[in-house]
Amino acid sequence: MKTLNGVKGFHDVVPPQSERFTEIEGRLRAVLTAYNYGEIRTPIAERTELFARSLGETTDIVEKEMYSFDDRDGTSLTLRPEGTASVVRAAIEAGLAQRDQVAKLYYLGPMFRRERPQRGRTRQFHQFGAEVIGRDDPLADAEVVTLLADCLRAAGLEESDLILNSLGDEACRPAYRAALTAYGHAHFAALCANCRERLERNPLRLLDCKEEGCRRVMAEAPLVTEHLCDPCRAHFGEVERLLHAAEVPYRINPRLVRGLDYYVRTAFEVVAGNLGAQNAVGGGGRYDGLVSALGGPPLPGIGFAIGLERLLMATEHHAFSSAHPEVAVIPLSVEASAAAVRLTRRLRALGMRCELEAAGRSLKSAMRRADKLAARFAVLIGDDELRAGRATVRDLQRQADHRLALGVDDLGPALMETLRMLAAAGGQGG
Ligand code: HAM
Repeated sequence: MKTLNGVKGFHDVVPPQSERFTEIEGRLRAVLTAYNYGEIRTPIAERTELFARSLGETTDIVEKEMYSFDDRDGTSLTLRPEGTASVVRAAIEAGLAQRDQVAKLYYLGPMFRRERPQRGRTRQFHQFGAEVIGRDDPLADAEVVTLLADCLRAAGLEESDLILNSLGDEACRPAYRAALTAYGHAHFAALCANCRERLERNPLRLLDCKEEGCRRVMAEAPLVTEHLCDPCRAHFGEVERLLHAAEVPYRINPRLVRGLDYYVRTAFEVVAGNLGAQNAVGGGGRYDGLVSALGGPPLPGIGFAIGLERLLMATEHHAFSSAHPEVAVIPLSVEASAAAVRLTRRLRALGMRCELEAAGRSLKSAMRRADKLAARFAVLIGDDELRAGRATVRDLQRQADHRLALGVDDLGPALMETLRMLAAAGGQGG
């Protein structure tokens, strides 16, 4: 029969890659806990209107990358392309977004964008994100950027650049937008078809165009940092001062714009040199108008998201904790199965990673399997062992055998103790 393959741009995560995923997620969760954030889980599907209203009608995501479909009652639903809109909606609904209250939330899960798949870009990908709702002070910005840097460090990312910009706010951005539009019109002939079209609707995106001609034109374009109003300039200056104090290295790029329209003031991105064209490992910024745009109180917000697949790619060289079992329990006869299943269950309950082998193999083939599994120890239970009431514990690193009493209730802890002692003795000889 013809094999059925998965959907283009949607990938399976199989061992050992899935182990690295879990490991990185664990490290990131630990950092978020240290920063005193709580986890939020939101649904994968939302009303299409949520994203149209949050991300901006003229963004690439809303215009052409959303997986939208009509539910049976005619409601248009969309598979979430990012997490911020859902988190803000959920925080409003759950009463977490309220005056005089700060919500610090993190999330993890699959996102969906119908982009052209390439290295580092898939149609389903995973984000690890954090959002702070209810703080507008620069210390919140500095702490969120510091959190992002600490997350990436905990995941083992060494070579990366943190890029920072201020996008201004509703007071100063309109004038900048106008300046950029005028500049674009003055260089209209040199712009690509896409940018010509974007010029009226979303001129900031011109700064992001990868076309050579547009890049040349935009290299001389007016900069947002030259158009900031005094409060935005003061805010940005304070964010910088606090990042210096926190010892977080960064670089300012006044051309950094982000692909979503909800940002004001501080915006940032982390790029990793070894990723190729899709080099943004994570990004985020401030979104002070979003909570009220979604019907909540006028509360500010700021956050970021890390692309987990890209983070995994960028840290591929990094050593991870072993995915090998500590113990392979090997019943050498069918009669030994009962003792083996009981013992294995006890070891697992004590937290050991165990592989229980099929019963009745020859010793030679069982040992070959244990080698292949790269287990640290093999616990052999054969007819001799059953008769003697002992198991043979073979140290596969040192090729030494130990005998341990089998069949007593505390065998699990006793064996565990022995294994730990042997493992701690390392390669010091038998
Ligand atoms: P974003 O920059 O669109 O921001 O996405 C964040 C990260 O998700 C990117 O830096 C990248 O690592 C990853 N990513 C995005 N698209 C793909 C893709 N097609 N394939 C693989 N990875 C991808 C946001 O989504 C904002 N919600 C971040 C935020 C949170 N801003 C404030 N709070």
